[in-house]
Amino acid sequence: PLLQETFGLTELEERIRSHYGLKQVIVVPGDSDQSPHAKMELGRAGAGVLRKIAGKDPDVVIAVAGGSTMAHVANHLTSAVPLKGITFVPARGGLGESVELQANTVASTMAKKIGGQYRLLHVPDHLSEEAYQSLMLETGIVEIIQVIRSARIVVHGIGNAMVMARRRKVDQATIDSLMNDGALAEAFGYYFDRQGQVVHKMPTIGLRIEDIQQMETVIGVAGGKSKGEAIAAVLRFRHEDILVTDEAAALEIAEQM
Ligand code: BG6
Repeated sequence: PLLQETFGLTELEERIRSHYGLKQVIVVPGDSDQSPHAKMELGRAGAGVLRKIAGKDPDVVIAVAGGSTMAHVANHLTSAVPLKGITFVPARGGLGESVELQANTVASTMAKKIGGQYRLLHVPDHLSEEAYQSLMLETGIVEIIQVIRSARIVVHGIGNAMVMARRRKVDQATIDSLMNDGALAEAFGYYFDRQGQVVHKMPTIGLRIEDIQQMETVIGVAGGKSKGEAIAAVLRFRHEDILVTDEAAALEIAEQM
């Protein structure tokens, strides 16, 4: 936390906020890549923001992505009074993550933590066109998709494109094409290049990019020096409203402005 002594996290928050036209930026001290404590604080700050936004709308549907950062957010979520009308849903189907990191798990944990509701989406990660088409004929699936697309708040992590592609065990041909397309960042199953253009999407069911673009509040929670460039790429997509990050990532983001 050298930075706090020089010009302060608050100034860094404000620089990033105004540069990318965000509503709010929160920077916690430290580097999540190096320090489990910093990552926990990131989760705590994310939970605080989410609790505040969610509390304003008693019947809101909140779509959540998966990942280790979101798992921390879920674990820190609390509410003094049960928010019974709030429904958590996974933003997308399973994306090849381990159970603890899946969006379904994050959604159910969050709901339990604040006394809300949740709905789950049980579909496999890699869908062929035919499988997709026939799933979309299932009433149960159509119904949950409608709930997901009615979400007004989405909260998600951000990853490095190659890290996420490997974590999801995508095939070599897809890795090659991601590289060719200059994929740098990943969020909610979409891959972005340095300019924030979508260069690839994972074929799964759930929120589409147009749903994200219409969303009332998009909250990104991601930190660690290694994610700085990826976070900046997603900010250039220009649909984030709130960013919760850490000092190490924020310094990288600021360097790219
Ligand atoms: C995935 C999300 O599950 O986790 C992505 O769908 C995100 O939005 C990723 O990029 C980040 O994971 P982590 O573990 O680095 O927080």
